[in-house]
Amino acid sequence: MILLHKMFYFILCICIYYTNAIPPIEQTMEKLIKLISDDQVLKPAEFKFPQWEKKLGLYRSEVRLDFFGEPLQAELRKNKYIYVFDNNMFATGWISSVLLEATMYGRAPKIIDTERLSLAIDAIETFHDHNQNESSVPLMTFWSQIYNQTTNTWQSAPDNLRYLITDFDDSLQLIEDILKLLGIKNIAQLIDKIRTSSAAFKDVFQIPPDFDDTYLNIGLGVQLKLLQDKYPSLYLRWLQTNSNMKKLIDLTLRYAYKPSSQNLDQNTIDPRTYFWIRDFVRDNPQAVLATTWAQNITEVRTIAHRGIRMPFNLNNIDVTVGANVIYGITSAIIYDLVDFKDYFNQDMQTLYLSTASLIAWSIKNSMKNRPDLAQVYYPSHYNFLWYGSRSLFLLELARRQDKSLPDVFNRVYSLLSDVYRSDVVKFFQDHVRSDKSSYDDFLGTNDTNIFGKLEPTGEDRIFSTAQTVNILIASFTYFDINTGRLKWITNEKQLDTIKIMINNSISWLLENAFKYQPFNCFFSGSVKGFNQLPFWYPANIYQFLNGTTFDPDHFDTENQSLMDSIVGVSGYIDETTYERMISQKHFNVSTPTTFNGYNVPGGEFPFWSSQPYTHSVTLLALAQYNNLDD
Ligand SMILES: *[C@@H]1O[C@H](CO)[C@@H](O)[C@H](O)[C@H]1NC(C)=O
Ligand SMILES: *[C@@H]1O[C@H](CO)[C@@H](O)[C@H](O)[C@H]1NC(C)=O
Ligand SMILES: *[C@@H]1O[C@H](CO)[C@@H](O)[C@H](O)[C@H]1NC(C)=O
Ligand SMILES: *[C@@H]1O[C@H](CO)[C@@H](O)[C@H](O)[C@H]1NC(C)=O
Ligand SMILES: *[C@@H]1O[C@H](CO)[C@@H](O)[C@H](O)[C@H]1NC(C)=O
Ligand SMILES: *[C@@H]1O[C@H](CO)[C@@H](O)[C@H](O)[C@H]1NC(C)=O
Ligand SMILES: *[C@@H]1O[C@H](CO)[C@@H](O)[C@H](O)[C@H]1NC(C)=O
Ligand SMILES: *[C@@H]1O[C@H](CO)[C@@H](O)[C@H](O)[C@H]1NC(C)=O
Repeated sequence: MILLHKMFYFILCICIYYTNAIPPIEQTMEKLIKLISDDQVLKPAEFKFPQWEKKLGLYRSEVRLDFFGEPLQAELRKNKYIYVFDNNMFATGWISSVLLEATMYGRAPKIIDTERLSLAIDAIETFHDHNQNESSVPLMTFWSQIYNQTTNTWQSAPDNLRYLITDFDDSLQLIEDILKLLGIKNIAQLIDKIRTSSAAFKDVFQIPPDFDDTYLNIGLGVQLKLLQDKYPSLYLRWLQTNSNMKKLIDLTLRYAYKPSSQNLDQNTIDPRTYFWIRDFVRDNPQAVLATTWAQNITEVRTIAHRGIRMPFNLNNIDVTVGANVIYGITSAIIYDLVDFKDYFNQDMQTLYLSTASLIAWSIKNSMKNRPDLAQVYYPSHYNFLWYGSRSLFLLELARRQDKSLPDVFNRVYSLLSDVYRSDVVKFFQDHVRSDKSSYDDFLGTNDTNIFGKLEPTGEDRIFSTAQTVNILIASFTYFDINTGRLKWITNEKQLDTIKIMINNSISWLLENAFKYQPFNCFFSGSVKGFNQLPFWYPANIYQFLNGTTFDPDHFDTENQSLMDSIVGVSGYIDETTYERMISQKHFNVSTPTTFNGYNVPGGEFPFWSSQPYTHSVTLLALAQYNNLDD
């Protein structure tokens, strides 16, 4: 009798278990966690074409070419085999950060254990700039460096691209053979594009450290500090090599753009930057803006020939880099990272405010219709917006906790809350697809089917839709530390609209999270095509690295190379003069004044995509949605 009773109970339990199936959101999160985990390198591999070099602990990330149009063309972009595995810090840094963020603010099954996270953090450690003389300087590079005995410098080395290009003709033959074997058509066109792209690659090989990887690493350090209980020892290890905040701030300010300075090192910027930023500079002449590269003109003159140089030998401004710098600073101050706040001086406060103002201004002015120049390395608009929204989220949280912060944080809060709670929402409403749920950036949006009819493939749709959810949550909720839930910011009249937008996108993600290619375009070279070369834009500095000036109208292409030139804008040029300069030719080429999108014939540029990054931001969207308090 007792036995029977037990058996009945047992059967009952099974029934309940089956009818009460795991809700779809949990299932989807489990599946995402598994996919992300599968894309971490657990067994390093050496380059032996077609085997790519893969570094232990890094997450998958790959270089592809943005071909588009008819099916045969599009195939070259999305083919399963046509890519180069890339060992960079950026993708792994972001994936780690996103996974930790989902742990902190979301409700999800266990996302990552100490061992796996430790592998990623160890891998990121190898991306420090080794040319620093002081110890523990948290200055980071996109690619790790190798020591060059001839030049006595540490040089950035994108392993697989470098190997491919060093043995270019050998690899090319092999690539051709493999592609033929796979039955891929129009190989000739692909090879052609690789040839042109590889010329551009050579230039980026020698890149100095940058402030986006640098401040991404700062944000990550803060997260490790906050999660010390969950992941013991990782923060302490991070501190060992990253504690020199004084030097970090010195460097951030040394390489900042100060248009009103009298010093060429500080007041000179890429002519492509100046083209879109000039009204901002006119209205904010005392601005101090975070730049991309940790190098100045004085330095590039002497060290370029030793294999460390900014592309085109000059610094630029990218709003995405700016958004990451702002986040790094915001989190370091709010959560008191080492002694960062002791060095947060007046100049650094100005840099913080100026850079945040530029971000708000760029969004309000739709990047002056030149996203190709404003997001010069990071074309994904949804990704940029998300990076910016993360600072707003932290600032809102700090206000709710009555943290006392310098006044500049209130000003940045006003700027960001205004733009994110109005302009950005409007942007989503204007760009949502006809299903009112999902969003496309540009990968595959110009593809056509065999009948020549437009048939977008939605390759960045999952990414863009997930980031939209993450942005809306970052803009309209705060994390309540007492309940551990995300709470709506109540005094917002548009909240109903926002909730519906989020609900729609979450439903779409649950349905489609595995139905499209999980691509994104998280990074690219600054040149997308002929129109993005800096030389065609108005400039007032034309020099060789040795300081000799030259006349762009009489450039001796036979004996001189632009490779060693510095073409830039120093100081402010008044608008009347500038307009006249726009109407003139530079190096005999008219100024490219319009941008026709990232999919234009002839402009098939290399881009960086990471599937596990898409899966992690999707996980973050679901985990946060799952933790919303209604
Ligand atoms: C580091 O020190 C060496 C020798 O003193 C010097 O040549 C080099 O320029 C310094 N590097 C930096 C980045 O300061
Ligand atoms: C540019 O870098 C050089 C070498 O590090 C440094 O001496 C100089 O002060 C820098 N320029 C400015 C304006 O900071
Ligand atoms: C060392 O640097 C020089 C100058 O950039 C370069 O020409 C050379 O190929 C480098 N050597 C190695 C082994 O990478
Ligand atoms: C969003 O979805 C949740 C869960 O399905 C539901 O409770 C809520 O009412 C929805 N909100 C809106 C505004 O549709
Ligand atoms: C400076 O470099 C340019 C281009 O390499 C060269 O033509 C010129 O002669 C150099 N000037 C001096 C003074 O060395
Ligand atoms: C390039 O240099 C050579 C030798 O100095 C000279 O003969 C030739 O005219 C130069 N080319 C141009 C286009 O000036
Ligand atoms: C400038 O371009 C025009 C065509 O656009 C060409 O005819 C002319 O020869 C070029 N001049 C120089 C100096 O290259
Ligand atoms: C790509 O598609 C967009 C949106 O449909 C369109 O505005 C643009 O003109 C297209 N570009 C090309 C080169 O076909």
